[in-house]
Amino acid sequence: METLNGVAAYLEEGGLIGEWRLALGLEVRAAAAFAPLSVDLLTPGELARYRNLSATSRRRDWLTGRAALRKLLRRLDLGPDTASLEFPAANLSLTHSGGMAVAVACLDAPGPGLGVDLEAERPMRPEAARFFLGEDEMAKLNGRNAMDGGAESEEGLLRLWTAKEALFKADMDNRNRVLTDYRVADPMVRRGKAGLRPGLDTGAPEAAREFRYISHRLAGWHLSLAAAVL
Ligand SMILES: CC(C)(COP(=O)(O)OP(=O)(O)OC[C@H]1O[C@@H](n2cnc3c(N)ncnc32)[C@H](O)[C@@H]1OP(=O)(O)O)[C@@H](O)C(=O)NCCC(=O)NCCS
Repeated sequence: METLNGVAAYLEEGGLIGEWRLALGLEVRAAAAFAPLSVDLLTPGELARYRNLSATSRRRDWLTGRAALRKLLRRLDLGPDTASLEFPAANLSLTHSGGMAVAVACLDAPGPGLGVDLEAERPMRPEAARFFLGEDEMAKLNGRNAMDGGAESEEGLLRLWTAKEALFKADMDNRNRVLTDYRVADPMVRRGKAGLRPGLDTGAPEAAREFRYISHRLAGWHLSLAAAVL
């Protein structure tokens, strides 16, 4: 699984379906793309959205995301038009990084809120942690790093970054929230429970307060999925 192709094939052939079922309690399917969808193939609604994006890199990422979404919708026997999709979504999520896009869908109805995040492996400075970890999470991570000499540190930070982004995306009520509003029960494990920060306005009574997540390291990528628990 050394190449983008290898990672994409592994995800699409269902290599992680069993782990996702155990971790999230959901039937999740994935599709990946590493080339942008041709603009000629966009529906009128998609074309209108595309034209609203100004930066070339943003347009390329968006088109690669559309390619992954289209593939996934086709596999689920759904129509190809992505123009009406809004995020966060109860049963769909999308991410792009380093030229690759991954789309995931949960087959369970109603979907609880699903999130995915992908990051190409890169160094992450420890000072960045305060933008996505709470003090309790940092204390646990630092305690572990003091024991093992910091070996887990950089890899752990990027893993937790993707987990927090996936948790944010899985929250249907995320409009006024930031990554530090989500707290994982144990920052040292790659699969577990998460909740909202104590003291946070938890929104409507039916809104999710609990989440589950799982993180993977695939060749040069960190991939996390999360789902709300209703
Ligand atoms: C919106 C956000 C989740 C995007 O994440 P990202 O890592 O920059 O980009 P990704 O490629 O992984 O994800 C982008 C996709 O997420 C989806 N998305 C956008 N807003 C979303 C939201 N509010 N909820 C769920 N999914 C969302 C879209 O499908 C988007 O792709 P598209 O525009 O091509 O359709 C992120 O920018 C964000 O707002 N994070 C939380 C806010 C925060 O705390 N920021 C502080 C960090 S310092």
